[in-house]
Amino acid sequence: MEDINWLNVVSRFLHVTAAMIAVGGAIFTIFAVMPAVHVIPDEARGHFQQQLLRRFGKLLMLSIGLLLLTGFYNYLVNERPAHSGQAVYHALMGVKILLAFGVFFLASVLTGSSPAFEGMRRKRKRWLMLNVIMALAIVAIGAVLRAIPPVPPSA
Ligand code: HEM
Repeated sequence: MEDINWLNVVSRFLHVTAAMIAVGGAIFTIFAVMPAVHVIPDEARGHFQQQLLRRFGKLLMLSIGLLLLTGFYNYLVNERPAHSGQAVYHALMGVKILLAFGVFFLASVLTGSSPAFEGMRRKRKRWLMLNVIMALAIVAIGAVLRAIPPVPPSA
């Protein structure tokens, strides 16, 4: 019990919780909020969407910050040394990080209000679907990375 590194436990807990909030929120939006939004009268719909984005946007930014902080901490401090020389591990991690940057970009664009990305927000469902697919690929890569045994310490 005394061998447990509690910083690693907290970091993993925050990483998985933030992933749950970000990915779960996007799936809930596509499959529950978007199909149901038509029941709100036209004149109130814009205000409803604005409120939703304002509130969820804050939670999303916090989740992105936590994913970056805990992800890079865990990679640089624990996993990189533990998987030293395992090219496949680091290549998969590189793909995971690049996909994560793509997900963070799309999520920021879709919850933000910059006029430059208005065209993308008009096709919100398509971009959100792409983001969910990329996020699920990240989770799948995370599961594979966890299954790759670390290099045994040399005697
Ligand atoms: C949308 C963004 C992300 C999602 C949804 C996500 C999700 C996950 C999940 C579900 C796991 C498996 C956790 C476990 O089994 O304990 C994981 C592991 C991990 N993630 Fe992320 N992650 C994201 C971004 C990042 C970023 C930006 C980094 C930065 C390096 C990162 C680094 C890691 C590391 C090092 C692991 C541990 C891999 C291992 O067990 O060998 N993640 N991630």
